[in-house]
Amino acid sequence: MKFFIDSANIDDIKEALALGLCDGVTTNPTLVAKTGRPFKAVIDDILALVEGPVSLEVTALDYPTMMKQARELRAYGDQVVVKLPLTKDGLKACKTCFDEGIATNVTLCFSPSQALIAAKAGATFISPFVGRLDDISTDGMSLVEDIVRIYENYDFETQVLAASLRHPQHVVQSALAGAHVGTMPLSVIQQLFQHPLTDIGLQKFMDDWKKVPSA
Ligand code: E4P
Repeated sequence: MKFFIDSANIDDIKEALALGLCDGVTTNPTLVAKTGRPFKAVIDDILALVEGPVSLEVTALDYPTMMKQARELRAYGDQVVVKLPLTKDGLKACKTCFDEGIATNVTLCFSPSQALIAAKAGATFISPFVGRLDDISTDGMSLVEDIVRIYENYDFETQVLAASLRHPQHVVQSALAGAHVGTMPLSVIQQLFQHPLTDIGLQKFMDDWKKVPSA
C-alpha cells in the first residue's frame, strides 16, 4: 500500500519524506487554509519537494469552471492530480479529464454506488472517507472493502485511496482490505512506530549493555 501524507504543511511533508513514508500528497481546501499561506505558494513548495502524485482540489462547483481550474492546476506539473468532488459536475469533469489525460482523485466518496460511477467516469483515484463515516456511527472500513471488491470484479483501473484515516488501525485495516493507497496526517504516520514492548525491550538492552565489561 502506498502512503500519501494528507497535509499542506511543508514541515510535515518534509518529515514524512525523511521517514521514507511519503509516496505522494493529498490536500484539500481546509488543509490549505490551515497553513495561512497563499495557495500558489503552498503548491510551489509541495511540488518542489515531492516526486509522487500531489492531489490539488478544485474549488468550483460547476463543470465549466471545474475544467478551467483542472487545466490550470495540471499546468503546474505532470505529478498534479486534480481532486474533484463526487457530484454530477465533478464526474462530468472527471470524464473530460480522463479524455485529456489529466489524472484525477474523486473525493468525498461515501457509498459503493458513488465509487462505481467514479470508476466508470475514469477516475485515477477514488477517496472513500473512512473516519467521517465512523463519525456518524457507520462502518467506514466496510466501504473500502466493498469498493476494492467491486473494482476487482470488473478490473477497474481506478485506485482505492483510503482517506480520512484517523489512527493506526485504520491504516492496518485499509492494507488488509487491499486499498492501493492510504492517506493520513503526520500524526498518524508517527503513531505507526509506537509499541510499548519496543520501548521496554530497548530499555532492557540499554541497561544490560552497561553490565558488559569494557575489556
Ligand atoms: C483526503 O483526501 C481528505 O483530505 C482527508 O483524508 C479528510 O480527512 P478528515 O476527515 O480527517 O478531514
